[in-house]
Amino acid sequence: MTLHNGSFRANGEAHLSIAQVSKGFVTPQEELIALQDITLEVGRGEFISILGPSGCGKSTLLRIIGGLLEPTSGSVAVNGRSPREAQADKALGFVFQEPSLLPWRTVVDNICLPLEVNNRHHRDTRYTTEGMLSLVGLGRFRNYYPFQLSGGMQQRVALARALAFDPALLLMDEPFGALDEITRATMRYELLRIWDREKKTVVFVTHSIIEAIILSDRVAVLSSQPGRIKTVVDINLPRPRSEGLERGEAFLDYSNLLHSLLMGGVKNGANFSR
Ligand SMILES: Nc1ncnc2c1ncn2[C@@H]1O[C@H](COP(=O)(O)OP(=O)(O)OP(=O)(O)O)[C@@H](O)[C@H]1O
Ligand SMILES: [Mg+2]
Repeated sequence: MTLHNGSFRANGEAHLSIAQVSKGFVTPQEELIALQDITLEVGRGEFISILGPSGCGKSTLLRIIGGLLEPTSGSVAVNGRSPREAQADKALGFVFQEPSLLPWRTVVDNICLPLEVNNRHHRDTRYTTEGMLSLVGLGRFRNYYPFQLSGGMQQRVALARALAFDPALLLMDEPFGALDEITRATMRYELLRIWDREKKTVVFVTHSIIEAIILSDRVAVLSSQPGRIKTVVDINLPRPRSEGLERGEAFLDYSNLLHSLLMGGVKNGANFSR
């Protein structure tokens, strides 16, 4: 594998720019620096993963990008605007680890919830309700309640709900973390299919090396305490990606590289591409 002096910049137009973001939390016990000096650009339509050990600040970073949390210093721009403005404009979609569906509403009513809350209809967006259901493969289950769905199906509903406003930027925080390995593997390729079709920019938080390689154009590896970007790895594997990918030699090279980065075996600050 060849190592290049790459950059943390987007390849093409930047959709998301994170500039020198730091975040400290003051607790009764101590002042904790969760994130330190995070600088990263994400290109329009790019799929980027944030990979790092538990507690390194991945969710904190995603919440800052989404305008749910203010950084202590530094700035974030989504399409040149603040995250709050982007959120108010429905330019951001969130998917969290737990699908958090409303148990008393059916699949279709959960998907339409953001539109209802905002007094809008699917006809105001690019999608129809039927289109959303078929996009996530739940047409047959439109009138099911969450308790009648498997974990993977619930997560598809959460994904459809996040896409309801057709946001250009999708923020996903370990969305498949609670799923069993087989469902999780299926959902990865489902997500890629949707991403291929919808051309969203995706920031995907994970601690799974396999997931990061299969999905991403680039992987930003975070170190913990304080959370810093150790390096950014370009994943130069052809698309569309298919299940055989995981058995290829290139995949194993990336897997070994990311593994040693996470374990601290590779020096900080380098950039990699194959
Ligand atoms: N509201 C808060 N108040 C105090 N400390 C916080 C708060 N939120 C997060 N932290 C701390 O910030 C650090 C990063 O937390 P964060 O949830 O971002 O980690 P993470 O990388 O998402 O972990 P995981 O993979 O387990 O989800 C942790 O040490 C956590 O204790
Ligand atoms: Mg987290």
